[in-house]
Amino acid sequence: MAKKFYLLVFGCQMNVSDAERIAGVLASIGYKKTKKIENSDVIVLVMCSVRQSAVNRIYGILPKLQELKKKRKNLKILLTGCLLKGDRKKLERHFDYIFKIDELPFLPSFLLKNSKKYKRRLSHYLQILPSYQNKISAYVPIMTGCDHFCSYCVVPYTRGREVARPVKEIICEIKNLVKKGIKEIWLLGQNVNNYKDGKVDFLSLLKKIEKIKGNFWIRFISSHPMNFNEKLISFLSKSKKVPPYLNLPLQSGDNKILKLMNRNYTVKEYKMIVQKIREKIPDVAISTDIIVGFPTETKEEFQNTVNLFKEIKYDMAYISKYSPRKGTAAFYLKDDVPPEEKKQREKILSQLLKKIALEKNQNLIGKITTVLIMEKRKDGWLGRNEYYKLVKTHSKKNILGRFVKVKINRAHPFLLEGEIINE
Ligand code: 5AD
Ligand code: SF4
Repeated sequence: MAKKFYLLVFGCQMNVSDAERIAGVLASIGYKKTKKIENSDVIVLVMCSVRQSAVNRIYGILPKLQELKKKRKNLKILLTGCLLKGDRKKLERHFDYIFKIDELPFLPSFLLKNSKKYKRRLSHYLQILPSYQNKISAYVPIMTGCDHFCSYCVVPYTRGREVARPVKEIICEIKNLVKKGIKEIWLLGQNVNNYKDGKVDFLSLLKKIEKIKGNFWIRFISSHPMNFNEKLISFLSKSKKVPPYLNLPLQSGDNKILKLMNRNYTVKEYKMIVQKIREKIPDVAISTDIIVGFPTETKEEFQNTVNLFKEIKYDMAYISKYSPRKGTAAFYLKDDVPPEEKKQREKILSQLLKKIALEKNQNLIGKITTVLIMEKRKDGWLGRNEYYKLVKTHSKKNILGRFVKVKINRAHPFLLEGEIINE
């Protein structure tokens, strides 16, 4: 009987995408995916280290893993993902094998006795064929690592410096996906708009992808606000395939904190970028990432973030409480905002987000938006529109994976409802 594997994935889209390549390797050596952890012969954990809470999750499931190991003597438990040296040392004794994601091509030699025939000639783990999890939307990594060194962030330490994936490989993967009927491509990287492979930068890469024949959307994440130049904005405004939704991580609305975070922009510069984007793409939806309670952040400095949040009117925001990470520059600053205060600041911003998101969604009532239908629910179909907003609609037909025009008639903070007009 075929051996079974179970994947436990934490963290961002990059980890989800990496897990698809892990599944690809395991499938290529005859393992089958299982949804029941109790049945598995191999469990692979893909971990995140961005905040201590993410690391704690790994420690939280260790007892369950040990229990499973007692019941199934041959069970192998593996760990990969974003892992700091200190955590690796502490976690080592609980796992059979810990590997860096770029060591993925060597996984067969660990699992199989006679692995010679599986030795691959791969120069990079991204060349591994993924087992895609979704038939409508697909992740395509275009680069790994990050060179920005924001003072709070583990990524340059866990994933290393920026390495661009060759253009040819990216284009080839996307062409294949589009041929298979994929309708949405997410270009992934920690700093996508800093992409550079020889003479090809992010803008030329987008232009090449736009030329691929087919009806599909191109989205990308994460980007650095300072890498949005006028040429890129101008292209985005005319693009037929990149929908009007951008993620512009702000992190803080206060100049002193931005400097301590090593973000390389001021509030004024950030606002200029938003202004330029909105001039060219008036209906653009903007999401952001914010950290509250960064070391030394006073109430007034936090208020600057609140004020900027109100001014920019974000459609969506991913708000985090600052978490000190060993080895980063900010780790040497005193984590002096009390946990209760961080919680309070997070709550204030979340409530503000809810209010603004509702107002923005109400503006869409009566408008017709394009929705890519992603799943069927008991009470209707669910999809995302061009602004990356969740939309619920109804149809008796099977519209899974189709682009449909929906006239919006109800708005909630994080959901729109409407009727299809082009069935
Ligand atoms: N503490 C809290 N949030 C963090 N992020 C990154 N590092 C930290 C940290 N040390 C947040 C940032 C980033 C998102 C992926 O996670 O907002 O954009
Ligand atoms: Fe977490 Fe960052 Fe690694 Fe993604 S890249 S899994 S957010 S640490």
